[in-house]
Amino acid sequence: MQKQILFVCLGNICRSPAAESVFIHLIKEQGIEDYYHVDSAGTGSWHVGSQADSRMKDAAKTRGIVIKSIARQITREDLQKFDLILTMDNENLSSVMSLAEELDSNLTKKIKPILSYASASKLVEVPDPYYGGEQGFENVLDLLEDSCKGLLKELIRMG
Ligand code: 4NP
Repeated sequence: MQKQILFVCLGNICRSPAAESVFIHLIKEQGIEDYYHVDSAGTGSWHVGSQADSRMKDAAKTRGIVIKSIARQITREDLQKFDLILTMDNENLSSVMSLAEELDSNLTKKIKPILSYASASKLVEVPDPYYGGEQGFENVLDLLEDSCKGLLKELIRMG
């Protein structure tokens, strides 16, 4: 059975689509994409239906990573369906935790900050790059490449 992985941020146009695409890139590189279903969602609804931010798409593309995601808002069904839900910052973490608590507190076990899998950073939040400059997008991709590698290693280890 496929492992179902969901990345979550606020708008679903910058960080979580990047995380989704970085993770897909890694599993494709290893030829194990059939074992995973990967998606992303936002806690907010402002950007529903939009493509990812073009600055994030461009920054990812220079690393060979294509972002195809269309923004959507997280649903209660997502909390039931996905095996692991990775949040970008403390605000997303608490929003998704609250949603899970409303349904079934056991679901909170599926929710983890993506940076808990990072090896090269002590940060606990992926900074929101939306209102910043180009360097913010590179920083997000550095953090996500590192933490997605850590996540995949852990998933493979757990079998
Ligand atoms: P994201 O970035 O959560 O990484 O997709 C944001 C994009 C847009 C907004 C906030 C965060 N916004 O407020 O419009």
